[in-house]
Amino acid sequence: MSGRLAGKSAIVTGAGSGQGRAATVLFVAEGARVLALDIDGAAVKQLADEVGDSVIPLECDVSSSEAVQAAVRHAEECFGGLSVLLNSAGVDLAGGLGDGPAADLDEEIFDRTLGINLRGTYLMVKYSLPMLRRDGGGSIINIASISGVVLGSSQHAYATSKGGVVAFTRALALSYAPENVRANVIVPGIIRTPMIDFVLKDEALSRRYIDGTPLGRIGEPSEIGHLAVYLASDESGFMTGAAITIDGGLTLQ
Ligand SMILES: NC(=O)c1ccc[n+]([C@@H]2O[C@H](COP(=O)([O-])OP(=O)(O)OC[C@H]3O[C@@H](n4cnc5c(N)ncnc54)[C@H](O)[C@@H]3O)[C@@H](O)[C@H]2O)c1
Repeated sequence: MSGRLAGKSAIVTGAGSGQGRAATVLFVAEGARVLALDIDGAAVKQLADEVGDSVIPLECDVSSSEAVQAAVRHAEECFGGLSVLLNSAGVDLAGGLGDGPAADLDEEIFDRTLGINLRGTYLMVKYSLPMLRRDGGGSIINIASISGVVLGSSQHAYATSKGGVVAFTRALALSYAPENVRANVIVPGIIRTPMIDFVLKDEALSRRYIDGTPLGRIGEPSEIGHLAVYLASDESGFMTGAAITIDGGLTLQ
């Protein structure tokens, strides 16, 4: 198979929907094999049915250490190695309504949000690293959010989890650079996926976001996927520790 990711094997979390799904389709189009993880097992099964043998679907809750370890063992069995880890699984449990401020924030919402968005990313990295290091290096790609890096949001749990993902990625980049394991984080703005159904279904709110975005539209999942392909490929071989905003200019003003 030829392509920019020919010969590479990847794990993608949150592959059943949105940005993880789009990235998986593009990874395969560029020659990679992908272990597609999602808590929604039916969604990754359907993706594999559509895309073909290069996608191996597996139900996995990234907040569970046991499930993550089993998934990584499965990658070892299927691929015998690992080149790329893309952590796209994530939740916004308040459905965009804002899960704060802190005094009104349920402890359970805080714990679940950090458990999936931040701890899930940490678990996937922790258990994938032995394979990434062993094979002479690799690329870790995490997905944060503009909520994690700019103020102006009442998402106290979600923003905290995503700010944590940015800091975690930088720490990884520094620690594992000597072993040629790169780590970069994508910082998306508003992207057309089921996560923002609350925006897409509300015409006035959609208009507010579109008007507030210099490029005048909402982003598409494939636009994040194309960046993920670049970060996964050897073309980005000198890039580590970068937080790349892709938001149509929303955070410029
Ligand atoms: N859509 C946006 O506007 C936007 C903006 C900034 C950041 N993000 C981030 O991008 C990432 C991808 O989200 P999306 O927009 O594609 O949303 P999405 O809801 O379409 O996809 C998220 C996927 O993660 C899966 N998931 C949720 N909990 C899981 C768990 N515990 N274990 C495994 N899988 C789990 C879901 O089943 C779903 O398939 C998320 O981390 C999200 O926080 C989204």
